[in-house]
Amino acid sequence: RNKMGYVKDLAESSDLTSIPSKYTYFNTFNEEDGIEVVAEEEKIPIIDFSLLNSAIPDQRAKVIQELGKACQDWGFFMLINHDVPESLMERMFVACQDFFNQTEEVKLECAEEDVLAPIRYGTSFNPSVDKVFFWRDFLRVWVHPQFYSPPKPSGFSEIAMEYSQRTRQIVRELLKGISESLGLEKCYIDKEMEMESCFQVLVGNLYPACPQPELAMGLPPHSDSGLLTLLIQNQNGGLQVNHNGKWVNVHASPNTILVIERLSNGKYKSVLHRAIVNNKTARISLVVAHGPCPDKVVTPVPELIENEIYPALYPGMTYKEELHSRLSNRLAGKSHLDPVQ
Ligand code: SIN
Ligand code: FE2
Repeated sequence: RNKMGYVKDLAESSDLTSIPSKYTYFNTFNEEDGIEVVAEEEKIPIIDFSLLNSAIPDQRAKVIQELGKACQDWGFFMLINHDVPESLMERMFVACQDFFNQTEEVKLECAEEDVLAPIRYGTSFNPSVDKVFFWRDFLRVWVHPQFYSPPKPSGFSEIAMEYSQRTRQIVRELLKGISESLGLEKCYIDKEMEMESCFQVLVGNLYPACPQPELAMGLPPHSDSGLLTLLIQNQNGGLQVNHNGKWVNVHASPNTILVIERLSNGKYKSVLHRAIVNNKTARISLVVAHGPCPDKVVTPVPELIENEIYPALYPGMTYKEELHSRLSNRLAGKSHLDPVQ
């Protein structure tokens, strides 16, 4: 296993005042990317999760309508009152930090070149194809339908198991609301996508403090694969979502769950987002991505296509195969729409 130059090591080398040229993103991709940020942040939809289970029909109807509007206008929303205990989120951040704080030798036991390895410690997005490197180290772990965990640090596995269970519940509830917002049966998506055995991947992203944040990029613009992604961050900022062609900063406390969508290629937006870096502190984002059952061939389901919920882009492919293609290629723009190579 070759050591490919992880960012944490690099950032912590004491005399680093400028970044190596292979990390200069903004000089390379400047024009089309634009760094314009607009002050529309206060308009980001906020969904009160507790209302989805409200016994008062009007309240439930109202939140489902809000959910539909958030999906249509933004493809992104902030989730509050989600009842994942703050202490569990905090423990998950600590476990992730503890993983990255281990020696390189220990971490490299999880370094895999196979993009579909169930446990994979890596850097950038896919260093074998990235033209510019990203200011990010990551740990990607499959947590459902089969649960994997790095053997160290101790305690990681229990926390990850609990966190993934709680977030899976939230996603299934959200999908019910989203189903209804489209005029479908409440359990329609849940059933068709076989969410009982959904593919769930936990990703811990570490973005070390960067001496030249104006040049580097944590993760370039992309939209996620799968159905719904939940994201929490240990500090207030770093994620930007694209709204009407402009980048909007997302400032949210660690307790707020950020929800990114990829439900459709039509009515509901699949939001373009990216992660920028800063020169003050390391940022951790914890991402839980949810896709349909990994081995199910996602054939076009008439109702889903009609409502454009799930794009029939890769007919005859399992979600696992789709993911393989995606992770093997460069992460650029709306890469889920890129042809399979
Ligand atoms: C991601 O898009 O997977 C991560 C974005 C972030 O770190 O905020
Ligand atoms: Fe993403």
